[in-house]
Amino acid sequence: MALQTIELGDIGRDIRILDQTLLPFRIEYRELSTWQDAAEAIKVMRVRGAPLIGATAACGMALAVRSDPSDAAMFKAADGLRETRPTAVNLQWAVERCLSILACTPPDDRIKAAWVEAASIIGEDRAANRAIGEFGMPLIKALADPLDGEPVRILTHCNAGWLATTHLGTATAPIYLAHEAGVPVHVLVDETRPRSQGAALTAWELERAGVPCDVIADNAGGLLMQRGQVHLVITGADRVAANGDVCNKIGTYLKALAARESGVPFCVSVPTSTIDPAMPDGSSIPIEDRGADEVLHATGMDLDGTIRTVRTAAEGVSAINPAFDVTPAEMVSTLITERGLIKPEHAGRIVE
Ligand code: MRU
Repeated sequence: MALQTIELGDIGRDIRILDQTLLPFRIEYRELSTWQDAAEAIKVMRVRGAPLIGATAACGMALAVRSDPSDAAMFKAADGLRETRPTAVNLQWAVERCLSILACTPPDDRIKAAWVEAASIIGEDRAANRAIGEFGMPLIKALADPLDGEPVRILTHCNAGWLATTHLGTATAPIYLAHEAGVPVHVLVDETRPRSQGAALTAWELERAGVPCDVIADNAGGLLMQRGQVHLVITGADRVAANGDVCNKIGTYLKALAARESGVPFCVSVPTSTIDPAMPDGSSIPIEDRGADEVLHATGMDLDGTIRTVRTAAEGVSAINPAFDVTPAEMVSTLITERGLIKPEHAGRIVE
């Protein structure tokens, strides 16, 4: 069976996640037994990516009511889960959605209700991934037609692949469907320092699926776009404001600037659960600060097979590490959603 990012057992049973901190070197699942386990997994990024963070938070709520179905314990868990990461709106969205059901369910019935809700959130994300793929694939096909069999070269940033969701990913869903349909594609994967989600996760996924790709240093995209070696950029997002401003992994904005300069379409794939109608524009989206250590160190596998973290800057050097940036709506060509291709400025209206 294909790997899953999260496995929700039968009602009241345990929940497992694929531990992404060990990828691409080791495939290991980890059991989540308490809501605190779910919160820890989100915080240290054993699970990451906006839709998967939301799904894990919903599972965390299920684990919370399994341990103690009282109101006090349930609201405490909701607060604890909400505090783990600030930027991806799917986290708040999933916790609110679970609370809205559980708060009007008698405590004795909460375990079942919470499991059903978590399963719905996962099921809807799976369906959204597929629909995003189906709406986005024709964009790739249209670029392929005049290329006479040459691959469509698609640049992506961070990991908005299946590892960030529960099925085909968001940015990668149109790519996977195009590849399956025989449309030649070649993906340029931004390494995505400091945590290297591109090199460690996206390239691993694509390689396993047989999709041709190259990892590129984060600074290479501008040159490749100037040279006409990128036909399309597709990224995911952690939160889209009502006006269509897109908040995604740090470095996305620079790629959007380069794409605009070189006339390369810049698309953002999102489930509508990532659109935050309460956020009028991108300027108020909370940007996670992940601390200096990630910038000053790099993690990889030694020649002897040990995963190690090593310092890459001199002792005593300081660093800053904003984890996300905001790309203004006018730089985004299209939002690819499960409800179709939409203009970024219509984002808020679509979810309302
Ligand atoms: O810090 P991360 O790895 O959680 O950041 C993930 C991203 O920025 C993704 O592009 C985004 O969540 C979209 S995932 C479908």
